[in-house]
Amino acid sequence: MAAERALTMATCTAPVNIAVIKYWGKRDTDLILPINSSLSVTLHQDQLKTTTTAAASRDFTEDRLWLNGKEADVGHPRVQACLREVRRLARKRRGGGEDAAALSLSYKIHIASENNFPTAAGLASSAAGYACLVSALARLYGLEEELSEVARRGSGSACRSMFGGFVQWQRGERPDGTDSLALQVAPETHWPELRVLVLVVSGEKKPVGSTAGMQTSVETSPLLKHRAEVVVPERLAQMMQHIRDRDFEGFGQLAMRDSNQFHATCLDTFPPIFYLTDVSRHIIALAHRYNAHHGHTKVAYTFDAGPNAVIFALADTVAEFVEVVRRSFPPATNGDQFVRGLPLGSAVLPPELEAAVLTEPVPGAVQYILHTKPGPGPQLVDDPSQHLLGPDGLPRSRA
Ligand code: DP6
Repeated sequence: MAAERALTMATCTAPVNIAVIKYWGKRDTDLILPINSSLSVTLHQDQLKTTTTAAASRDFTEDRLWLNGKEADVGHPRVQACLREVRRLARKRRGGGEDAAALSLSYKIHIASENNFPTAAGLASSAAGYACLVSALARLYGLEEELSEVARRGSGSACRSMFGGFVQWQRGERPDGTDSLALQVAPETHWPELRVLVLVVSGEKKPVGSTAGMQTSVETSPLLKHRAEVVVPERLAQMMQHIRDRDFEGFGQLAMRDSNQFHATCLDTFPPIFYLTDVSRHIIALAHRYNAHHGHTKVAYTFDAGPNAVIFALADTVAEFVEVVRRSFPPATNGDQFVRGLPLGSAVLPPELEAAVLTEPVPGAVQYILHTKPGPGPQLVDDPSQHLLGPDGLPRSRA
């Protein structure tokens, strides 16, 4: 019936990912082609996810976008690049003679997107955001192919959020970017004991965004050039092997070294860029004291373009290390909310550990800890009550 066909809608969710071999630097800023391959762990959507609804209707008069309930600029070049690419693929597909009844490509679209975590927390929301946008648009237009190449046009790291588990973004060689894709190295079920703690550090917003920061690094840092040409190719192969072997010692050591080298290239950038703060450095030192006390790598840190620490550990280590963090950075208020996410056992620190690992506490420096684990890639939301847009194509009023 005509009335029922007036509005078509699709809703998807997509995850955040955290790189253990970092992407930093583009060889093509328009197509978003990186100077090196990278590798990440997709985090579970129960703790961190973006939800996006895309709708098309012949009654819509213009494309519109809402982010976390507020109207945003749909003309943003990266949003436009994703839209253009999805529509191009849909057109190509139809050219092949399929599904003549499919949605008209000339209809305007409405898009609404929301995070289940505070954007202000400084967690990589653009990766989940663009992965989700592309997933929802693909559903709307009935595309079934792999679309990491399109998500990459939104934000480089977004291509890795198109898969669950352990994901490589291969830099590719071609100038048109058709081989610069994400590939799954192993699914989220591959390493069931692996856990992730996001230590959300209190304080200011990051001074330089990653897009601008990495471009200055490409232009000025000889260390970054060496990293991309020599260091990363070796590390990528090693990291894939550690993941395949579920070798935490190797995985953790390399994740820490790669994070440190990324931040070294930031210092080597001119003028230099600082993402780590005193609290970040405090967490780094704490992790090393903790590992030294145990005589092997029990926890591994990694930091993106901001001060928050992401800690990897095996499940049997989490309760003890969280207690170490709690004692080192006693929560200022609301102690029971300090750890969020997956349930956690309690731990009592042995006196020798206290003596070897703890130093003068810094109250309030860590706002809270999010406990999560590797998770799956984008998901389709079947339940129509979960759509973010109402039958009128406008954002549903949120309770
Ligand atoms: C430090 O993907 O945010 O998190 O491609 O310009 O959107 P654009 O940059 P973005 O950069 C992420 C950088 C990083 C490392 C990583 O995720 O690999």
